[in-house]
Amino acid sequence: MTHSIIKLLEKRISANLFDPAHELPVADIEALVRVTTRAPTAYNLQNWRFIAVRSAKAKARLRAIAYGQKKVSDAAVTFILCGRLPDAETLPERLRPSVEAGFMPPAMAQSWQEGARAQYADAQTARDEAVRSATFAAATLIHAAEAQGLSSSAMVGFDAAALRQDFALPADEIPVMLVAVGRAADGNWPQKPRRPVSEVLDIL
Ligand SMILES: Cc1cc2nc3c(=O)[nH]c(=O)nc-3n(C[C@H](O)[C@H](O)[C@H](O)COP(=O)(O)O)c2cc1C
Repeated sequence: MTHSIIKLLEKRISANLFDPAHELPVADIEALVRVTTRAPTAYNLQNWRFIAVRSAKAKARLRAIAYGQKKVSDAAVTFILCGRLPDAETLPERLRPSVEAGFMPPAMAQSWQEGARAQYADAQTARDEAVRSATFAAATLIHAAEAQGLSSSAMVGFDAAALRQDFALPADEIPVMLVAVGRAADGNWPQKPRRPVSEVLDIL
């Protein structure tokens, strides 16, 4: 029997049309984000923030920044996925629960912090990690939504500078992606065909 997660992967689409009458209760948004944060991050940094744009007023602001894309306001919620530049000083707090639970040796937590401090001294590497973490979150979110019978659409069609200003993002946050989540309306395309595995896979 095919596992249900494989079935979700096989059928997920980027929805263009959402039911504008559909709303998501705050508890459902929280549940989606809770499961999304099960996504992995380097050193368990969890260097992300999710801004759930849900009110008509905030959606209108975001839609203008997203070049008028209608789904931003039609979907029940459009998330702004922010990646945060990794800060090694956050790691003791992030890793403490693993240490306290007894499976992570304290010395390991300390060495992870030292590793992160050295690794992210390079600005490009730090920025890459912020984008990577938010992208992993986006991938997890779209499938978590699918599992709840919802549809989604990832978007990079937005003015990042305008978003930073309008939504008052701090300097260490990068707006990586928008993800609209809601109930699909009729008329969406099926999943687009993919390139054959033989074109994209090298087995060495
Ligand atoms: C990072 C990323 C950015 C995207 N940006 C947009 C966008 O701004 N607007 C849009 O309509 N679709 C956007 N898409 C959706 C892609 O066009 C879509 O995933 C692709 O055509 C494959 O279609 P499918 O997801 O339905 O299989 C984006 C997808 C990804 C992964």
